[in-house]
Amino acid sequence: MINLLALLVLAAGVQDTTLAVIPRPAQLTRGTGTFLLTPATVVVTDRATRQIGYQLSDWLQPATGYRLAVSGAAGTAARTISLRVDPALSRLGEEGYRLTVAGTRITIRAFRPAGVFYGVETLRQLLPPDVFRAAPVAGVVWTVPAVEIEDMPRFPWRGAHLDVSRSFMPKEFVKKYIDLLALHKLNRFHWHLTDDQGWRIEIKKYPLLTSIGAWRRNSLVGVQRSYADTTQWVYDNVPHGGFYTQDDIREVVAYATARFITVVPEIEMPGHAQAAIAAYPWLGNTGQQLEVLGHWGVDENILNPSDSAIHFMQDVLTEVLALFPSHWIHTGGDEAPKRQWQSSPLAQERIRQLGLHSENELQSWLTAQMSQWLAGRGRSLIGWDEILEGGMEGLAPNAVVMSWRGIDGGIAAAQAGHDVVMTPTSNTYFDYYQSQDLAKEPLAIGGFLPLETVYAYEPVPPALDSVQAKRVLGTQGQIWTEYQRTPKNVEFMVFPRLVALAEVAWTPRELRNFSDFTARLAKHFTRLSVLDVNYRPLR
Ligand code: ACM
Repeated sequence: MINLLALLVLAAGVQDTTLAVIPRPAQLTRGTGTFLLTPATVVVTDRATRQIGYQLSDWLQPATGYRLAVSGAAGTAARTISLRVDPALSRLGEEGYRLTVAGTRITIRAFRPAGVFYGVETLRQLLPPDVFRAAPVAGVVWTVPAVEIEDMPRFPWRGAHLDVSRSFMPKEFVKKYIDLLALHKLNRFHWHLTDDQGWRIEIKKYPLLTSIGAWRRNSLVGVQRSYADTTQWVYDNVPHGGFYTQDDIREVVAYATARFITVVPEIEMPGHAQAAIAAYPWLGNTGQQLEVLGHWGVDENILNPSDSAIHFMQDVLTEVLALFPSHWIHTGGDEAPKRQWQSSPLAQERIRQLGLHSENELQSWLTAQMSQWLAGRGRSLIGWDEILEGGMEGLAPNAVVMSWRGIDGGIAAAQAGHDVVMTPTSNTYFDYYQSQDLAKEPLAIGGFLPLETVYAYEPVPPALDSVQAKRVLGTQGQIWTEYQRTPKNVEFMVFPRLVALAEVAWTPRELRNFSDFTARLAKHFTRLSVLDVNYRPLR
């Protein structure tokens, strides 16, 4: 009977959840026995993985109270953790790894260092959850169960976004967020740095962007029920702001790089740019002195399409390129109402001169200019799916579309030969409510996105054929912060939904199983608690 049950469990593809590795590895086989970590254990690395060896030693030190030696050779060590790249493992790709835990030896092998890093992240999860503590824990025996894992991600783009404009997030939290991304084997941090409510990145050539644009007088309180009736809006009269210096940015980028995470900066244009226009009114269409916005929504103040505004955007991006090694540079492009361009002689003259037919075509022309400018510097523009609204003509072939208003933008772009990242509100917007019992949830923008729906997401739309499907780089979770004003609030909205999305992005589709996931999540919550993550419990 017990054997039959075991067989049924195997047949259902249910993993031994006691290990609770998240995201679930592609292949995992339990062995017998355990590896015992001791102060005399040596981390043995090759040159390519030496830094990862130091990182492992650093990570184990606070909770165990001892620092493992990191060396190029095992010497006389009785127990070793061996890290090494192996050119013979090309089948594991850029990010896959093999992890073997047996007796007195742990080995992690991968084709590339990134894979070794992910092997180390898995190893941390195989240790008791207390390994994530920041100070020595008494009475824990640090064992790792014998196991054989061969693992690689399904998608190359496994992302998490963070809006730091609506609510400024301190650099320390940004680094914590990056640590949490790495723990879940996510590899893209989409940093939403500019918007109507605040410009958050120091640009040396335009100091007013931060001295004026990073600060607002007040913020809307509660829900903005009506755009039309502004008399209903209530403000807190508390100034809000902040920005990252270029040194801060370099620190965050280096921090992420050490965790094999690419930081994709987003500089919004032409919409969601009121903070920039407040700093430099000549960027706008009306000449009016505007304020950095203290309420939310889609604002009609957008950048003008003049040569000087285009040069401004290129100047900003020049400094951005020097700070961010990312191949992808996000230029926003969403929610840019065209009313001001409709009544602007300058914009209308541009449309006429260029032989365009609409304001949407003008936005597409602008996007095309920026995409070519970036391509000429070896980078790719990435933008929200509105960049397709005026057609794809002139768009650099390497431009990437982030499909958020459903999946149609992603399908159209993939069919036209562009790479896409699937970020539909229906499955990846973590600013949506987590249950329909709103009284029990913190204030959110609206919507309803339960954990199951995130977990059930299939990033490759069925409409794509097998060649087009390869254009789907992956998926990413979004957290907009109009209503998530503090890091703790952000954590509550993001976890565990981002954990579910990490498994969507990493684990082979056929191995995804929601009840198996939630069983592992129960233990994973212990890790998140140790890490002081304000996750939302399952209720
Ligand atoms: C977006 O949510 N406006 C991209």
